[in-house]
Amino acid sequence: MTKPRARKISSKKHPRAPEPVRRVCILTGGGDAPGLNAVLRAFVKTCCELDIEVYGSEDGFEGLIQPDRLVKLRSASVRGILPKGGSILGCSNRANPFAYPRHDKRGREHFEDVSDVVLRRIHDHEIDVLVMVGGDGTMSHAQAFMKRGLRVIGVPKTIDNDLAATDYTFGFDTAVDTATWAIDALHSTAESHDRVMLVELMGRYAGWISLYAGIAGGADVILIPEIAYDVDRVVAKIQERASRGVTFSIVVVGEGAKPRGGKESTISKGRAGHLARLGGAAHGLAEQLKGRIPHEIRVTVLGHLQRGGTPSSFDRLLGTRFGVEAAWLCARGETGKMVALRGQQIVSVPIEDAVGHAKLVDPNGELVQVARAIGVELGA
Ligand code: F6P
Repeated sequence: MTKPRARKISSKKHPRAPEPVRRVCILTGGGDAPGLNAVLRAFVKTCCELDIEVYGSEDGFEGLIQPDRLVKLRSASVRGILPKGGSILGCSNRANPFAYPRHDKRGREHFEDVSDVVLRRIHDHEIDVLVMVGGDGTMSHAQAFMKRGLRVIGVPKTIDNDLAATDYTFGFDTAVDTATWAIDALHSTAESHDRVMLVELMGRYAGWISLYAGIAGGADVILIPEIAYDVDRVVAKIQERASRGVTFSIVVVGEGAKPRGGKESTISKGRAGHLARLGGAAHGLAEQLKGRIPHEIRVTVLGHLQRGGTPSSFDRLLGTRFGVEAAWLCARGETGKMVALRGQQIVSVPIEDAVGHAKLVDPNGELVQVARAIGVELGA
């Protein structure tokens, strides 16, 4: 991280800044992730030190679409929020400014491009830079606004850890901890009842949460979206354990996992500009296992527990580092960038590098090999 030299911002001292940055707006887009408040706290505190005025947009883009939803953020506004989950600004993954849901008189939903409304509000409030904290969707909005002349900065966020331009996103570590705790808890009850316990974890099309928590929690089978599974192998693993007198098994199922030749299980299709809701992968597997193993089967869908609760120290620290770097980028007028973690370093990368490249688990990578080495069944 390179600290800006000057406290007062002037275009003379920062030749890359065409206009001095005096007022910025920050929003937390998409779903929440533990560590968002650490970002907001660090960003606001650093901006205040640099004499940059900060506004917050409530509920993601909603605050820039609806009137009276912009709030002034001062150091006092972010006091005491570090251990809190969620975002003090609120989040929304419905407020897509390029496909914003509206309802006609009959209550039918349609989608409108309201990006002009956002641009007008930013202009009217004399906001110099819009800082967007979010995942792939939010970064693609950042890119689209950039093309329309807005000065933007991105901060990567998702529990799924699937953004290619950064090694880690905050929220992931807390989600993995929660999922590991759940797998630990399921072990004792599975063992007491000689059951096969299936636990469905979040992560969308990336198996990071499942692989990390599955290995950390000692799961017997881990099914991830990147490796289509053969149910026969899952059955064989459970039978092999039973033949050794181990009468229970723990099966981690990533929500995007799919059987060989099959598709992901979805709760609802993606609407215009919005992603599909995944769900049902573990119940689908339970159906396939029924009658093929003698055990009772139970399914736990961990769901949004993985997104809630107090952030881990790792996520608080990463969020804080990202927040400070975002403020420093504002001060230097270095827009069009997303902050990122590369190795141990906080860096910034062009926003276009962050959009549309999902970081997925390598099916032949080290982590998968580690799982296989300790006897975990991956379904293929
Ligand atoms: O992208 C984060 C995430 O929690 C995914 O892991 C999950 O599939 C999705 O969001 C859930 O979204 P929602 O909160 O809209 O149900």
